[in-house]
Amino acid sequence: MAEQDIRRSLVAHAHLRRRPHIMLRRMLDRVAPDTPLVGADAPMTQLETRLAELLGEPRALFFPTGTMAQQVALRIHAERTGRLTFTAHPTNHLDMWEQRGYAAVHGLRYQPAGDAERPLTLDDLRQVAEPVSTLLIELPQREIGGPLPSWDDLNAQVQWARDRGAAVHLDGARLWESQPFYDRPHAEIAALFDTVYVSLYKGLEGVRGAVLVGDADTIGHAEVWRKRLGGEIPDAWPLAVAALIGLEDVLPRMAAFRDHAVAIAGALVANGVTVVPAPPQTPMFHVLLPVDVAAATRARDELIAERGVQVFSHASPESVPGRCRFELTVGENAMDFTPAEVAELIDELTRRALP
Ligand SMILES: Cc1ncc(COP(=O)(O)O)c(C=O)c1O
Repeated sequence: MAEQDIRRSLVAHAHLRRRPHIMLRRMLDRVAPDTPLVGADAPMTQLETRLAELLGEPRALFFPTGTMAQQVALRIHAERTGRLTFTAHPTNHLDMWEQRGYAAVHGLRYQPAGDAERPLTLDDLRQVAEPVSTLLIELPQREIGGPLPSWDDLNAQVQWARDRGAAVHLDGARLWESQPFYDRPHAEIAALFDTVYVSLYKGLEGVRGAVLVGDADTIGHAEVWRKRLGGEIPDAWPLAVAALIGLEDVLPRMAAFRDHAVAIAGALVANGVTVVPAPPQTPMFHVLLPVDVAAATRARDELIAERGVQVFSHASPESVPGRCRFELTVGENAMDFTPAEVAELIDELTRRALP
């Protein structure tokens, strides 16, 4: 697949909107010539202040990655409670994608709760017998297509942790995408948790980076760990500028992205395609294909070469042989496609991939 052949893409993170020249031009238009590096008007201070306000917490602290921010949050909750173990859904990012840094770097233990194939429930948590420092909740559960618990279920899960003296941490990598489903202010959702991590580059379409919010003591402690781990980057202002642009331009579009995802999923279902969840609750969902990963990837590359259109980035195998799935996240890129057009594209991709 040649990146330069892609002229349109359904992939939220396609290079189309992320090339350095495009990002820099967007940023240059927004940075006043006298913008300072430090102080209240510096981009990073503005970002941290804005996110503390939006999420209704006393302090917000920038981290270079969500990986670092979340490990630090769990470590602090462990130190406070004197318990090493945290619990979370089996597909949580820390256990699946971070080489188990929580254990290797911080000496923490992980106790899975629930089933990898379906969302976490209160009954799953009731099976966790070991006292835990933290319940980590991911909204939405990305690896299984992005389902969200109902507001009542979410509150009940949080209460389970509180009743056991455990902290509750939100993996809010996609909190921005989840908010329209709850139809409550971001701060009301964040208030359920002791610490919240949000991403600066996924839904916000920024460069990279993360922010951890919480009370002043917790975030002060997190600042010490950020320093120890080499995560203090005094001149990370380009990441802050890109995130501030995302907060202004992209955040207000989340409900429109979700609605478009629902419309696209509806067109796919009408065409006999399976999507998960149906209907989507956020701008993301999974598309299931009756072909294997290699065939789907070959068909994807043909469509790029012949028509300049990218349908997906990666496909993953299903447990049943000869089937696969891919994630579709509606952001600015996918808004460029009508639901009927997406249904036609996936139909064509499947026909090309079938033996
Ligand atoms: C649910 C979730 N949590 C955490 C992370 C980690 O974020 P980062 O890439 O900033 O380390 C990701 C990244 O994909 C994610 O999807």
